[in-house]
Amino acid sequence: MAYAAFRSIGAYIPSKILSNEELSKMVDTSDEWITKRTGIKERHIAASDEFTSDMGAKAAKLALQRSGIDKSKIDMIICATISPDYFCMPSTATIISTKLGLKNITAFDISAACTGFVYILSIAKAFIEAGMKKNVLIIGAEKLSAITDYSDRGTCILFGDGAGAAVISATDNKEEAIIDIHTGADGSFADLLMTPNGGSGSAHDSLEQEASSCFMQMKGNETFKIAVKTLTKDVIEILSDNNIQSSDIKHFVPHQANLRIIKAVGDALKLKDEQIVLTVEKYGNTSGASIPMAINDIYESGKLHAGELMLLDAFGGGLTWGSALVPFSPLK
Ligand code: ACO
Repeated sequence: MAYAAFRSIGAYIPSKILSNEELSKMVDTSDEWITKRTGIKERHIAASDEFTSDMGAKAAKLALQRSGIDKSKIDMIICATISPDYFCMPSTATIISTKLGLKNITAFDISAACTGFVYILSIAKAFIEAGMKKNVLIIGAEKLSAITDYSDRGTCILFGDGAGAAVISATDNKEEAIIDIHTGADGSFADLLMTPNGGSGSAHDSLEQEASSCFMQMKGNETFKIAVKTLTKDVIEILSDNNIQSSDIKHFVPHQANLRIIKAVGDALKLKDEQIVLTVEKYGNTSGASIPMAINDIYESGKLHAGELMLLDAFGGGLTWGSALVPFSPLK
């Protein structure tokens, strides 16, 4: 049986920074409030002519280059995004495939909000273990600034742009394989976090869509409480199912939504500070891109080494959630 190995990581972070100070000139907020309630100090914002696929393709090129695998060997691209270049079609993954010069491969997007990267990791693992694909490029890419209402202080302080990508490959060596992935969803909480207009679920009299129809709306406080409960339960379950102790985890890589959520989950697992990967302060919440951007951060700062075990943990709109036990397994 083939196993799936996490071979490489890459990311792209747009250069423009939007600070808390700048936001406090746009809405009634302050650096103090944002820092205390979220841990976020700044976020990066894509240029107006920079699309989700541009950022995804740049992250993917880096992941491919670092994998040591020739791009002709990639047989599938999956992109997790809630801010695709185009709402219905073509998918962002197909646009990225062209930007990478890849033809005749399977390419599609999935929508699982902030849990998107864990979802596409599980899909890549399943395709590889079923023997249907050998080298899968997975990409979390978001231009959340395009769907953020910059007059709503409850959401605009949270979100940023960026992309992260990884190459997942078939291996015969169980030692380097992804150990387990949990994914879940509960649509009865759909209204906590949504883009309520602009889709087939909203009635429109006119074909003209307001730009604001795609903006995100969130019931932050209710989402916060469910996030802490769900994330904690999910990681405790995946560790217990696999007889792994939290002390065996080298890098806990949570979705970077809010420092208080991450700390609460870290405390529940009795994790030490050095085990917890934090990028929320400098990137904010980049939804499906946040986990691979965080993995890239520890890779580029020399903290991620071959064989080290990562625990990924995510929660987002849907509601969706997921966790994964992933050894970092670059090709020698
Ligand atoms: N600046 C100043 N005051 C603010 C701001 C702001 N930016 N935003 C809200 N407030 C006010 C509120 O109006 C409220 O005032 P009131 O007490 O007078 O009514 C007060 O601050 C408290 O508001 P809460 O919403 O209760 O604040 P909370 O502590 O919950 O923090 C936050 C809000 C940061 C949004 C938090 O709830 C959160 O992080 N929620 C979870 C987000 C999340 O994990 N989402 C899922 C992933 S995202 C995805 O899937 C795309």
